[in-house]
Amino acid sequence: MTETKAIRALRGRLLWFVDDPETAGDAAHRYVEDGLLVIASGIIAAVGEAATLLPTLPAGAEIIDHRPHLIMPGFIDAHLHMPQTQVIASYGAQLMEWLNKYTFVEEQKCGQQGHPEKLARFFLDELLANGTTTAVVYCSVHPQSVEALFLESERRNTRMVAGKVMMDRNAPEALTDTAGSGYADSKALIARWHGKGRQLYAITPRFAITSTPEQLAAAGRLAAEHPDCHVQTHINENQAEIAYTRELFPDAPDYAGVYEHYGLLGPRSLMGHCIHMTKREWRAFAEARAVAVFCPTSNLFLGSGLFDWARAKREGVPVAVATDIGGGTSYSMLRTMSEAYKILQLQGQSLQSFAALHAITRGNAVALKLDHLIGSLEPGHEADVVVLDPAATRAMAHRLETVRDLAEELFVLVTLGDERNVAATYVMGQRATPT
Ligand code: GUN
Ligand code: ZN
Repeated sequence: MTETKAIRALRGRLLWFVDDPETAGDAAHRYVEDGLLVIASGIIAAVGEAATLLPTLPAGAEIIDHRPHLIMPGFIDAHLHMPQTQVIASYGAQLMEWLNKYTFVEEQKCGQQGHPEKLARFFLDELLANGTTTAVVYCSVHPQSVEALFLESERRNTRMVAGKVMMDRNAPEALTDTAGSGYADSKALIARWHGKGRQLYAITPRFAITSTPEQLAAAGRLAAEHPDCHVQTHINENQAEIAYTRELFPDAPDYAGVYEHYGLLGPRSLMGHCIHMTKREWRAFAEARAVAVFCPTSNLFLGSGLFDWARAKREGVPVAVATDIGGGTSYSMLRTMSEAYKILQLQGQSLQSFAALHAITRGNAVALKLDHLIGSLEPGHEADVVVLDPAATRAMAHRLETVRDLAEELFVLVTLGDERNVAATYVMGQRATPT
């Protein structure tokens, strides 16, 4: 370690994952009670016992003492909508009515000068305040909404995966593109942003209902031309949505069959919701290695149904977890996992604290195929970090007086935690919050 100036070390209780706790048990996590995370030029250079690593630091290295807080990889949110930050908490509707009555009205504002920029600033402030350092984002149909998000993300050096929504039917005129313009605008955004710094592009046909067959074919062409881009869309969220899709695509065997037909079901496909899946659809997902994205607070808020995580596991389908703002009701990945736990409880399933924290860090990184870059505190990874104070609230501090071990403490954190527990967030080793 020679570049003294760029070296920063965070001291605290380090927790990260090297495997899945569901399969590897206790061998999946690493916990260092008095640990040091050494960061050089934004990348993790070393991790381990403070007593071992402190003497190796060059003179002048900056040491930030976060004891007794937990230090974890920054959280990853696998699905949310930037134009819906002012749709969140809209009363009284299920999916299709909610889209038409609230969402499609609000998303039109992204066509106004300055609006996407305002949203992008708020959005990244809010994610970072919640400890989320990477997110997979639906922007609006307007290419400038993607431009605004990536520009703001580039300024903050956050890793974002985002795309322009493609939608050319069943939506207000002001929110539709065409098969041709949706393709061309997406293509130009890929050329400009995919792989620029930390920004990555996701090809984003909203869902089968709002795209003509021509547009789905165009999205499939983009996916074939850019196999390193993610694809994101929605599927099997709500019964009325499924019935309407069946009407629109009478020749498809089922909903997943529509996306399969157009080349949109592959290992980089992030498929939002997957609540009402047939046996054939699970099998198609498993064969394609497509990812089911579980959005607990959204599924409860919109009354969509209960995601069957145990079934996904049995079928060999990878799962990611997400807030789905603004169908979802919290930006916090901790709150998201608290609601996930309750959804699983209703189905006689469970979710241990280690598994929940794995899901929002390494688990989502693996699902996104970005685990070589993010989601871990292992050397070589990008130093996106969240510092958590499990005793941040009076109720939590009180409850923690009775916990007996780390798993119990973490369960309290996952069940009762939110942004109040985020003491600091670092992006590539730079402190991003509090600002
Ligand atoms: N299906 C199509 N668009 C959306 C959306 O914006 N939110 C949710 N929850 N489902 C969708
Ligand atoms: Zn969504």
